Amino acid sequence: MMIRKNAFGEYDIYTIENASGAHVRILSLGATVQSITVPNKMGGLTDVVLGYDTPEEYLRNDGYFGAFVGRYANRIANASFTLGGRKYKLTANEGKNTLHGGVGLSKRSFELISAEDNRLTLGITDPDGSDGFPGRVSIRVTYTFSDDNELVICYEAVSDADTYLNLTNHSYFNLSGRDDILGHELMINADSYLPVDGELIPTGEVRAVEGTDFDFRTMREVKNGFYDHCFVLCGTPCARLYSPESGIMLTVETDMPAVQFYAGGATGVRLGKSGAVYGKNSALCLETQYYPDSPNRPDFPSSLLRKGERYISKTRYRFSVE
Ligand code: BGC
Repeated sequence: MMIRKNAFGEYDIYTIENASGAHVRILSLGATVQSITVPNKMGGLTDVVLGYDTPEEYLRNDGYFGAFVGRYANRIANASFTLGGRKYKLTANEGKNTLHGGVGLSKRSFELISAEDNRLTLGITDPDGSDGFPGRVSIRVTYTFSDDNELVICYEAVSDADTYLNLTNHSYFNLSGRDDILGHELMINADSYLPVDGELIPTGEVRAVEGTDFDFRTMREVKNGFYDHCFVLCGTPCARLYSPESGIMLTVETDMPAVQFYAGGATGVRLGKSGAVYGKNSALCLETQYYPDSPNRPDFPSSLLRKGERYISKTRYRFSVE
């Protein structure tokens, strides 16, 4: 396999294509996943993620389409936390809270570290104090796409001071490649989820999914509902998503403790790739991550990255036809 590099305005777009012609496209702009095009049951290929055709749209984009999200995916209450006895004030970009790190990394330019065979590594160094976070953090993200249609995203980082770090990818999946995801079937391997307050900040309670609309332990249809919640993972795989229309099954595996299931969201109506019109139920996100607001919740799994320690995390997205 080999990786092709093309211009994407003043940025680059990298294509990793496998033996069957399936491919993923990654942008240097925000290390964004621009497309994932995989085999369907009709013998063709389907692009299963939302995205845009131009850098301008990505730069305007407030929906984090396919974005690499950091330094802290999801929310931090009151845009602040205390670490080592010192209070850190972050960028508040959603009311008084921080969402996806504040200004974040999603619209920054990543540099090419290496592109070999089927493996692309991009990197960025975020200065000390960026968005208010302590530590100069060097981040590398590696995308590997295999002949059996598995995309692996590996996040690595090191900081020169203690800090919090929570990196994810914010792809919006639609496995039929068109219309909406209401006929899709979903499984999330979670016995519990985190209830939230009116600002989508976890209340601190970890509630059982049993008997609630949050019970996705066995595959079931995604109904027309609003989901924007963190599910606490209790096994592997993390999740499965299936489109009966295309026959494409996505299986997600991760070493993260949780996944944010976001659907029926407030992205509004917008125009996307190749003239597609995206609306309320066009796609759903499965964002593997630490729990939201964990810097302020000592009882949640810790997202603390100690000075000089290596942050490493992997999420696998396997696409098959069933
Ligand atoms: C959040 C949503 C938010 C969306 C786009 C998701 O990760 O959970 O609340 O609207 O990202 O920013």
